[in-house]
Amino acid sequence: MFDFDKIINREYTASVKYDLRQAYFGKADVLPMWVADMDFETPEFIRNAVMERAKHPVYGYSIRPDDYYQSIVGWLDRRINWKIEKDWILYSPGIVPAINFTVQTFTEPGDGVIVQPPVYFPFFNAIKNNKRKQILNPLIRKDGRYYFDFEDLEKKAGQARLLLLSSPHNPVGRCWQKEELEQLAAICIKNNVLILSDEIHGDLILPGFKHTPMASISEEIARHTITCIAPSKTFNLAGLATSSVIISNKELREAFDRALERLHISNGNIFGTVASMAGYNNGDVWLEELMQYIRNNFDYLKDALDNDFEMLDVTPLEATYLAWIDFRKTGLKDKEIKDKLIHEAGLGLSHGPLFGRGGEGFQRMNLAAPLSVIEEAVTRLGEVFH
Ligand SMILES: Cc1ncc(COP(=O)(O)O)c(C=O)c1O
Repeated sequence: MFDFDKIINREYTASVKYDLRQAYFGKADVLPMWVADMDFETPEFIRNAVMERAKHPVYGYSIRPDDYYQSIVGWLDRRINWKIEKDWILYSPGIVPAINFTVQTFTEPGDGVIVQPPVYFPFFNAIKNNKRKQILNPLIRKDGRYYFDFEDLEKKAGQARLLLLSSPHNPVGRCWQKEELEQLAAICIKNNVLILSDEIHGDLILPGFKHTPMASISEEIARHTITCIAPSKTFNLAGLATSSVIISNKELREAFDRALERLHISNGNIFGTVASMAGYNNGDVWLEELMQYIRNNFDYLKDALDNDFEMLDVTPLEATYLAWIDFRKTGLKDKEIKDKLIHEAGLGLSHGPLFGRGGEGFQRMNLAAPLSVIEEAVTRLGEVFH
């Protein structure tokens, strides 16, 4: 029903992914498969809603109406059976800012904050830039799949105030199961560690998997959890800076709200509000088709790597549109892999070591593009890493 095959020229649209290639890779024409936004059109029902609002000639200060909150409540209930109250929802322009507000509001300089590498690298920056102490609880990789290391977490949780969780996990593509999340939360609660559950990829679940919001598991877990969600990855709206933080615990919520107040950023963005509502109210079918398309792109990549590339392996993908590719059998150093990708293959991927420990020898490839682009990327990989 929707055309995910269509090639859209994004050059010179002030796009990070396209227009920062020279600055980031030193080469302006790499095939860009790095930053996590999609090369697909934002669905028409969202564009129409934004254009309708844009027709009104005044773009003054705006509020988020009740319908906005109801669209989020309805989406979470419909999609994942998570029943939340409208009052639990706070606005943030992005998830990375929300992570920083959380670190600043609920920990003090020098406090321990746990991260589980390899993981989305702004987690590390939120700890370092706020002068907190980083505590690593690396994921375990076993037979190509990733797991939490509970034993290690038990040893370290006593030194921490906060854990930054990526659920589903970027970059390893795990959709954490309820039992795994329960076990993680039990250790955190026992040690009085607050959980920041970054669920920005929570809508991007491949067919056959199911996302469990950490805070939906039990009231006790919800009391210790701050959840971040957004329509930005789901509907390709990152440029509209509209995200949500969900906190059922009144004390935590009020503290978070005061932090937002101090910065006076709660006004938000009228187009972000309109787009978010349109997506959450109308996006079910589009999202299901999108995830089928991502599954197909991933299967294409996996079949090619399994059948034709002895030296490359791809991690199973359960969620997100990001493939985590293992280059270690090439025997090359990270810098050599990166140079070959950029200068020989002409591919702009995300460099594994940026994601911290466990990222060495890996590269992350963004699969949210027309299949013809994935085919081209695979051909180029084959020419260099056969
Ligand atoms: C796990 C994770 N959190 C947050 C973000 C970005 O959040 P925002 O752009 O809303 O700050 C990303 C984007 O890739 C992500 O993968």
